[in-house]
Amino acid sequence: MEGTCLLCLLSLTSLLCCTSDSAGLTVSPSSSQLFEGDSVSLSCEEDDSSAGWRLRRNTTRETRTQCGADWGRSAGSSCNISYIDPLDSGVYWCESREGATSNSISITVTGGAVILQSPVLPVMEGHDVTLHCKTKTPPSNLPAAFYKDGSLITETTGHMTIHHVDKSDEGLYSCDIRGHGESPRSWITVTGQEVKGQELHFDFTTY
Ligand SMILES: *[C@@H]1O[C@H](CO)[C@@H](O)[C@H](O)[C@H]1NC(C)=O
Ligand SMILES: *[C@@H]1O[C@H](CO)[C@@H](O)[C@H](O)[C@H]1NC(C)=O
Repeated sequence: MEGTCLLCLLSLTSLLCCTSDSAGLTVSPSSSQLFEGDSVSLSCEEDDSSAGWRLRRNTTRETRTQCGADWGRSAGSSCNISYIDPLDSGVYWCESREGATSNSISITVTGGAVILQSPVLPVMEGHDVTLHCKTKTPPSNLPAAFYKDGSLITETTGHMTIHHVDKSDEGLYSCDIRGHGESPRSWITVTGQEVKGQELHFDFTTY
């Protein structure tokens, strides 16, 4: 019995802590939507810095372009964009020299006046998720309407919390603030599995 559990523990530990050739991508601010002109910091949280992890992205105009060479300012395995543009909307991921890839993150940049701040990483089943509907300029707690897959969920003040999410909460979310406009739509993924990098994602998940 004890031997089995020790073995379990050892294999779990090696899974969690010491796999080489893996990385998790995190983004700050931790939001899947950003305003044009925001600055953003992307970071590959890697186990093995010698693997040469670099940020890459796909946008509507370009494929697999690398931070530093084609866009952004890079320092090792992190990357900054000081003035993000709607054309920077796309899918971002880390890739090692050998071609291993991290999780990917979808970022939508709007030239409009309203964003929905939703989690960039998959949300764990059973956790709570808080969505914020924000205008570019304060006040940011204006009454907002929240939508899932095009249908109104609720009208409330600035933010809403979905308690104990499950698979049925997956979908395309957006919001609007009367007199200011509508946010882009972002997909929220619910997962039963811990994703590397999730522990750094504290903005929208309450435990
Ligand atoms: C980026 O684009 C390439 C070419 O279309 C595609 O093969 C790849 O899966 C895309 N990567 C991501 C993370 O979406
Ligand atoms: C990116 O921005 C962060 C926060 O402003 C800063 O600490 C870091 O040095 C910057 N990195 C690069 C590559 O410019």
